[in-house]
Amino acid sequence: MNVKTTKTLLFILLLGYFGFAVSGNTPSNDEASKDDVLKTDEAIVGNFEAGEERYKKSCINCHGAAGKGAASYPKISGQEISYTISKLETYRDGTKIGPNSSLMIMMAKPLSDEEIADLAAYLKDVTF
Ligand code: HEC
Repeated sequence: MNVKTTKTLLFILLLGYFGFAVSGNTPSNDEASKDDVLKTDEAIVGNFEAGEERYKKSCINCHGAAGKGAASYPKISGQEISYTISKLETYRDGTKIGPNSSLMIMMAKPLSDEEIADLAAYLKDVTF
């Protein structure tokens, strides 16, 4: 249900964007060059919404809503992007960090670089 809502929102956003483009208001050069900088400065810029969707699919059960932790599972929100990325890459490599790493290694194996970047972006800024 959540995924559907997100897709509907994305669709509405896209519609808005195209309406804007058709209306003849071309984005200023300033905005275009800002986008370029964002794309070239970092290999992958994580996307908050995509990260949220991924988080709700496979992480929320253990780490709780908004990554605040649940029972014996650690709080993972509010960390620097580089911190979360390096942890997830370590687990994906199959390397243990703490006593319960096998759970996380299993979870991190299927993640792509982009999904890791999205999750890190989401976890850094998510709040209640
Ligand atoms: C089956 C339960 C479970 C699921 C599902 C799960 N985790 Fe974890 N996670 C853990 C446990 C347990 C640890 C601590 C592991 C250890 O001892 O090294 C952990 C640790 C982490 C850490 C490192 C925290 C730190 O500061 O060391 C990150 C980041 C993390 N998880 C992110 C995620 C993300 C992102 C997902 C979804 C793709 C996810 N987890 C899904 C149980 C889970």
